[in-house]
Amino acid sequence: MIGRAAQEKVQSLPDLAPLIEAAQSSNVVMLSERAIDEILTLVPTERTIETPPATLRTAQATLADPESHSPLGRTLAPVVSTEPTPAPRRHGLSHYSLDDFPMEAKDVDSEIEIHFDITGHSTTEGKMFDMQSCFTDRLRQIRQMMIVGRSLPRRPISNSEAWRNRQRYSSTDYEITLVGLVSETRWARSGNFNFVIEDETMQIRCSLKPPSGASNLHPALDGLMNDDVVGVSGHFLIGERNPLFLANDIHMPPLGRHSKATASEDEAVSAAFLSDVHVGSKTFLAPQWEKMIEWFRTDPLARTVKYFVLSGDGVDGVGIYPGQQRHLAITDLFNQYGELARLLEGLPDWVDLMILPGNHDAVRPAEPQPALDPEIQQDYSDAVFVGNPCDFSLHGVRILSYHGKSIDDFVAGLRSVTYSTPELAMKAMLERRHLAPSWGGKTPLSPEPEDRMVISTVPDIFVTGHVHGHYAGNYKGTTMIHSSTWQDQTDYQRMLGFQPKPCILTVVNLHTHATASIPFA
Ligand SMILES: [Fe+2]
Ligand SMILES: [Fe+2]
Repeated sequence: MIGRAAQEKVQSLPDLAPLIEAAQSSNVVMLSERAIDEILTLVPTERTIETPPATLRTAQATLADPESHSPLGRTLAPVVSTEPTPAPRRHGLSHYSLDDFPMEAKDVDSEIEIHFDITGHSTTEGKMFDMQSCFTDRLRQIRQMMIVGRSLPRRPISNSEAWRNRQRYSSTDYEITLVGLVSETRWARSGNFNFVIEDETMQIRCSLKPPSGASNLHPALDGLMNDDVVGVSGHFLIGERNPLFLANDIHMPPLGRHSKATASEDEAVSAAFLSDVHVGSKTFLAPQWEKMIEWFRTDPLARTVKYFVLSGDGVDGVGIYPGQQRHLAITDLFNQYGELARLLEGLPDWVDLMILPGNHDAVRPAEPQPALDPEIQQDYSDAVFVGNPCDFSLHGVRILSYHGKSIDDFVAGLRSVTYSTPELAMKAMLERRHLAPSWGGKTPLSPEPEDRMVISTVPDIFVTGHVHGHYAGNYKGTTMIHSSTWQDQTDYQRMLGFQPKPCILTVVNLHTHATASIPFA
């Protein structure tokens, strides 16, 4: 059945097939004007999606049964909009002026220098010996940073030497400093923060009373991550059966005010940052992608974008979590990568792509992760494939890009960090100079003989993704970017009450470090 007002709308359609398909699959019997309007928001038109794969088209053309609570057919976006409208220049874009770019990106030669990428350099056999080397190396690297950076009140002594002389070091007159890996953290009923500290020689139990007036970010209140390297200063409390080290304070590695490197004025180009595109998922936001591609074709600002850094989870993958199959619009992994390649083809020729893997990608999950397989790379023209994390420079500006899987551990381990504040996890990483400290948590780690998850050089730009939020800011001189996603809220996120911040491209002027966030939602 069809009403009169609806009839006119239907007659004006060039092709009835998608409408009929949508109506049938949505169990719509009465085509009222309202029902038509609703269905039309789901029907792709040739203006918005030129040749959508059949699977995507079906998924988009399905209205959800209001009683089923089924995720199928949710409105991904109103795809019947006319020509994509230019993205509004908000989020402070007024300060991101074209005047700051004397050259266009296409006239500037590419300058990418990779400092660290595990691809082809993984040497671990995954044995106990490798784990020991990895942790010993982490302890050595970060302890050295503390000594050289003078972040300890005095030179540390080994745990065994402290223990041997515990009688002597049992008074406030003999304060000593230890450095080690943290484990067994918990708060006592008294509010004291208890933990164990271990170096190459032995473990020592420590207890720290939160200093009066300490901020919420003080480790005694915020907590420490398992396997963090920290310093403690204090003395032993003898008299109990097991002597306890009473810490007066906890010392983190040094992190002073960083002074950023800049690209020269005639290399003033933008680097764009994005992550978690999740191609293949039913919740991939295809129309918004078209809008971004249109922006690249038409907006003068896009002509300043020389680099496009994709920080992992480019595709949704296959078999990543139980029941993923029903959330997939493209169920074949290679087809997912093929579709991602097709989507990225839309970027202008002058843009250089850098692609890292994430935990949804087809590489080993243990970090550091190597770059995507050469077989997958074949589909992409002119992309630089690197591992995760990757430490590299663009025109001398040092960038640390890490997918961010360990943010899950930081949310679990530190009281201050939540999924809506990934920037707090990023600050915590910089403060402890480590991207993923905890072994045996949610982040699989590869025990390389040298711990390459240590942040040995403070980056000029630090970028992560993974939790589908968005942030652009500054921390102690480092530009911090939490790259946005191109995936709409998933069922799982809805269950957790988490609202992602999709479809925001973050761009940074490598000469001035001005940052802008361009929304395409
Ligand atoms: Fe993701
Ligand atoms: Fe991820």
